[in-house]
Amino acid sequence: MNAIPTSDADLFTDENLSDPYPLYEELRELGPVVELTANGIYAFARYRQVREASGNWQVFSSAQGVMMNDRINSVLQGVTLCSDPPEHTQMREVLGRPLRPEKLRKLVPLIEDEAERHVAHLVEQGSFDAVTDLAEHLPLAVVSELVGLDETHRTRMLEWGAATFDAQGPMNQRTMDAFPQLDEMVAFALHEAKPDTLKPDGWAARLYAAAAQGDLPVEKCPFMVIDYIAPSLGTTIHAISSAVHLFARNPDQWDLLRADPALVPHAINEVLRLESPVQRFTRCLTEDYDVEGYVLPAGSRVMLLYGAANRDGRRYPDPDRFDVRRRPSDQLAFGRGEHACIGMNLARIEMRALLESLLPRVSRFELLASELELNNTTRGLRRCRVRVR
Ligand code: HEM
Repeated sequence: MNAIPTSDADLFTDENLSDPYPLYEELRELGPVVELTANGIYAFARYRQVREASGNWQVFSSAQGVMMNDRINSVLQGVTLCSDPPEHTQMREVLGRPLRPEKLRKLVPLIEDEAERHVAHLVEQGSFDAVTDLAEHLPLAVVSELVGLDETHRTRMLEWGAATFDAQGPMNQRTMDAFPQLDEMVAFALHEAKPDTLKPDGWAARLYAAAAQGDLPVEKCPFMVIDYIAPSLGTTIHAISSAVHLFARNPDQWDLLRADPALVPHAINEVLRLESPVQRFTRCLTEDYDVEGYVLPAGSRVMLLYGAANRDGRRYPDPDRFDVRRRPSDQLAFGRGEHACIGMNLARIEMRALLESLLPRVSRFELLASELELNNTTRGLRRCRVRVR
């Protein structure tokens, strides 16, 4: 049996969170699996292994949680994200009802109108923040309304989402600091987000209606409300602002997109490939697993590094180059297989609406200032000030 390559690098230092890509390259070069001794976990950084593991829930189980520490894995036990079939299949079917294609098609005109109106206003101003002024608008105005929490708690969704992702790290300070907000969100979902306080036709209320019809045990509902609250806003906001940031730094790519707007869906995949908003989740092995001659024992926790897999030169030539003509439809930013992101089509609709509203109005983004938001799980910007021509 081969000895599994090791690295003592800590993925969660400020430096590595700010620019994880050199470390990802090191990990990919070390082997198809690397033991991260500082973080106490095995990691897959190559495209092939992340893709295979995402598609194999029987061996790469989510039921023991998909985060890095036991505390959050226990607090979030019960969410769809942290379950395996057959339980997962039943929950996902109900969770996905408002996100089915025929439901989303009805939302497209609303999202497009809102994007047009909002972008026209921002472009008229001449400069704006691509995070707080541009990217936050659709998720906050449209998606949080669809989830249907009462007004006070709707405004907490963004903070709760960021805290939930931060609390997924190893037991570092960032994780500890996020626990109080995570606990607050869970308490809200368990005790307050009940049908009498939820918007009657919102996604959250419909979970309880489905339970009343017998489609789901009612005790699952609070956890599935969390499935809607935590990942639905910040992820998309990061994707939208990363797009503007990339186009500001690569004006030739914006020119290409303006010349051929049919490339927009490919450009969206390329943005997600290069700056994957969710950098990692984990899995627990149900049996021994052989990775090209390295055997991982049953019960081990393995990190799937989407952000590293998406920049694997074995899959994408010249992987660090932003190229809107690349068409990386197999990128892994939304995961793959049983747990593939249930909100991906909604996120794509939002991104597409904004890019298509910007295309005819903006010939250049000039980057004035930007700042990363460091988080144990997500990657994106806190601020991104641009001037537009
Ligand atoms: C660009 C935006 C987004 C990104 C990059 C993203 C990323 C991901 C990833 C990587 C997974 C796979 C998890 C795994 O395999 O363990 C996932 C699952 C999930 N996402 Fe997203 N997401 C985005 C937007 C959204 C939105 C808008 C929603 C809600 C409307 C959402 C809800 C979910 C849920 C509920 C799951 C769990 C699905 C399951 O376990 O079956 N996501 N997402």
